[in-house]
Amino acid sequence: ELAFDQAIDDMKHGSPILIFDDAKREGETDLIFASQFVTSDSIKMLRKEAGGLICTTIRKKEADLIQLPYLEEIYERFLPYGKKATNTSDMGYDKHSSFTFTINHRSTYTGIPDMDRQVTISKLVEFIKNIESKEDIVDEFYTEFRIPGHVHLLIAREGYFGERRGHTELATYLVERAGLVPSATLAEMLSDSGRAMTFEEARNFAVEHNLTFIEGKEIIEKWTND
Ligand code: 5RP
Ligand code: ZN
Ligand code: CA
Ligand code: ZN
Repeated sequence: ELAFDQAIDDMKHGSPILIFDDAKREGETDLIFASQFVTSDSIKMLRKEAGGLICTTIRKKEADLIQLPYLEEIYERFLPYGKKATNTSDMGYDKHSSFTFTINHRSTYTGIPDMDRQVTISKLVEFIKNIESKEDIVDEFYTEFRIPGHVHLLIAREGYFGERRGHTELATYLVERAGLVPSATLAEMLSDSGRAMTFEEARNFAVEHNLTFIEGKEIIEKWTND
């Protein structure tokens, strides 16, 4: 309850938060920003303090409007041995990934510097904000963005936690609940041991950096009682 309200409030103020998904799932903690507040310093923090893969989430609703599929569907259909390639029966923590394409805003050069990734993410936020007013959404999307690029996009499952309970859904749901443009930018917290931060390490990081630390189950409980 307390952590949930604090997390929403932090998001509204542009502060990052930490979400631990579940010991029975990845057992990982992600550092998460509402995409609309991402600056080049946020990207720097994600790569230097978190260290995992920097990704930006969108809802299924916007993905459908842009006609962005899940990568799994594309690989399964178009790769040789695609069905074998995308088989997840040996993946212990989930049945599906949330990855779709990577993008670069066309005004960026290589797309990788902090400033470039910030531009791509901020332009995506603007695009999503005005998506309903666009005439040909897909055409306009590729007028602005090129694929592949250097910002990984993730699509949250429709309705959130019925199908999947990943950081993709947890973060996007929080941002939506905060009344912000429904997109989050995140990366896994890795430790200098080379492993993912443990629950304890991530919680200590939160205390040291004065950040809100919340568990997936607290967010899902809120969603259930919605
Ligand atoms: C991209 C990932 C991370 O796990 C990230 O937390 C988002 O994915 P998920 O929804 O699976 O938790 O796979 O680096
Ligand atoms: Zn630090
Ligand atoms: Ca994952
Ligand atoms: Zn995750």
